[in-house]
Amino acid sequence: MTAGPWPMTAARDGAGALTIGGVAVGELTARYATPLWVVDEEDLRARCRAYVAGFPGVEVTYASKAWCSLGILQLVDEEGLKIDVASGGELHTALMAGVDPARLILHGNNKSVAELDQALEVGVFRIVVDSFEELERLERLAAARGVTAEVWLRITPGIDAHTHEYVRTGHDDAKFGFTLSLGLADEAFVRSLALDHVEVVGIHAHIGSQIFGTDPFIANAEVTLDLLSRWRDEHGVTLAELNLGGGMGIRYTHEDHPVEVHRYGKAVLEAVSERCEQLGYPQPQLFVEPGRAIVGPSTVTLYEVGTIKALPGLTTWVSVDGGMSDNIRPALYDAEHEVLLASRVSDAEPRAVTVVGKHCESGDLVREHAPLPGDLAVGDLLAVAATGAYTASMASNYNRLVRPAAVLVRDGEVRELVRRETLEDLVRLDVPLR
Ligand code: LLP
Repeated sequence: MTAGPWPMTAARDGAGALTIGGVAVGELTARYATPLWVVDEEDLRARCRAYVAGFPGVEVTYASKAWCSLGILQLVDEEGLKIDVASGGELHTALMAGVDPARLILHGNNKSVAELDQALEVGVFRIVVDSFEELERLERLAAARGVTAEVWLRITPGIDAHTHEYVRTGHDDAKFGFTLSLGLADEAFVRSLALDHVEVVGIHAHIGSQIFGTDPFIANAEVTLDLLSRWRDEHGVTLAELNLGGGMGIRYTHEDHPVEVHRYGKAVLEAVSERCEQLGYPQPQLFVEPGRAIVGPSTVTLYEVGTIKALPGLTTWVSVDGGMSDNIRPALYDAEHEVLLASRVSDAEPRAVTVVGKHCESGDLVREHAPLPGDLAVGDLLAVAATGAYTASMASNYNRLVRPAAVLVRDGEVRELVRRETLEDLVRLDVPLR
């Protein structure tokens, strides 16, 4: 089962059941119920290592927004990645996970004063400054603490990475960062030179997400190096750090063909070397910050089929026991995740069915036109591929569904990563009026 979007250890046992990390899906769902996120530990660790090996000399940083939980951060930390956090909540989670604050990078286009101050207090590695207001806030906060904040300026480099509109951030008219083409990046840098407690030590540019080719990344490297070189010429300051963001695409279905990580690394490193040589600029310390590509492919979601409604000449609707509350991506981005029958194998002729969740919305899709065996039955388990990134992290309790458990599997062993919510959890924060 190595081909396609399934995690590395996915296989079938003698009875035909899907196994991950050597554990059969039925065993997992009997213990942890459905829906269930199953994380293949070997796969996750292998992707961390592939990134580190594919980007020699580069600091690889995990974008924790993809999936921020104690166990996930501990695994990624053990593999030697730095971790980027984009809110006080992600920062808190990383600290609770025991990650050294000096390995954390703080992002966000509207960090609160409290978030900035906490970052200074614990001593994060870098803060990525996103706005003029933030430059001033940081100057004030760092002065009060008697420290100097070492920061990167987030540049909006004007690169359209041809991806889904909602996940494009590098283009000019974006809420993120200092728009290069409008002179905002220059203005931010000039203003920072006058500050006593904020030191710009590098720049950051993230151009989008689920990007398949290497060209946008190469363009990003070139644009940002040109800027560094120009600032050196104009201001006599040579910045030594360059963060090229995340965004590498992954396989969600057999039709997706992302660039392999070592090719992506090679292309970017070559582009950086060439450009540095042309510009006579000393090679900066590079950073990349993948989220999806680290955690996405390691995980499958298991659901149980609850109802099947075959409308003659129309759609066959297969409803499962989760949906947009545990994976909003199909509803939000028209995302397609491959689905397969997980509890058994079947010789029945496949037919296209539409797998939907149990929420009160027509947009609550799991997968449209999924080719599943014609004898698909109530009680069967379905597995949905590549659900490690931006599913648990964007999960909700819509319709008051409890959020699923997540388990880590490896060599026949199962460890719980996230406990399944209970009905008590659902009302825990509600304050009754009588
Ligand atoms: N760095 C920054 C500054 C980012 O904003 C992001 C993602 C990343 C790194 C990591 O990008 P990745 O390697 O994961 O593509 N919810 C959407 C994706 C939103 C991405 C937001 N920023 C989805 O489910 O597709």
